[in-house]
Amino acid sequence: MRRIHGASGTQGYGERAAALIPRYESIVFEEHHRPEMHLLPTVQSHILDIGAGTGVDAAWFAARGHSVVAVEPTREFRAAAEERHASPSIEWLDDALPELEAVLARGQVFDVIMLSGVWMHLDEQERGSGMPRVASLLAPGGVMVVSLRHGPVPEGRRMFQVSGEETMELARKQGLRPVLNVQTESIQASNRVAGVTWTRLAFRHSA
Ligand SMILES: C[S@@+](CC[C@H](N)C(=O)[O-])C[C@H]1O[C@@H](n2cnc3c(N)ncnc32)[C@H](O)[C@@H]1O
Repeated sequence: MRRIHGASGTQGYGERAAALIPRYESIVFEEHHRPEMHLLPTVQSHILDIGAGTGVDAAWFAARGHSVVAVEPTREFRAAAEERHASPSIEWLDDALPELEAVLARGQVFDVIMLSGVWMHLDEQERGSGMPRVASLLAPGGVMVVSLRHGPVPEGRRMFQVSGEETMELARKQGLRPVLNVQTESIQASNRVAGVTWTRLAFRHSA
């Protein structure tokens, strides 16, 4: 059931949406996702983008012929995304980690799951209950991309310092093996100056 104050992790986003929307929209997919580009499919695939923000990534996949389910609990971002990146190949869902009720109810699996800049919004218990649900949505041979933000937490935001090691261990318990583990600095100049760094992970089924 949806919490009265919105999904955990969304604190601080709706209030700052007017400033954040142009920032997100200025991000270039190929720069943002350089570390994992080689893992993304070139044949038509089903993509699940969780915490999709204003839809930059969803739009990139849709423009390349993929069909995308984009999950975003912050109403302001969903509205901006639907307006800016309207596409018959993108379906928007008001859903959230760790429950992912609406996604799971579809009974669908995905070739790519994007968790870009979202996993560290969950507390330890939520990460523990969320991973089996996310892993169950990954198709055999599919790839799950996870990026974790480290460093100062923006005011009003709910964010935890989550390690790559913990995330890999949670994924391993679900039969997912790491195929990417790199540390990068932020591509946003203001965050770089503030000392924000990222861990970029990707996983595939171990079978
Ligand atoms: C830092 S933004 C990243 C947006 C986009 N994925 C990107 O890489 O640019 C984090 C996004 O996660 C969303 N979010 C926060 N808590 C969430 C949750 N519990 N479930 C799903 N999305 C969540 C926020 O609303 C926000 O759009």
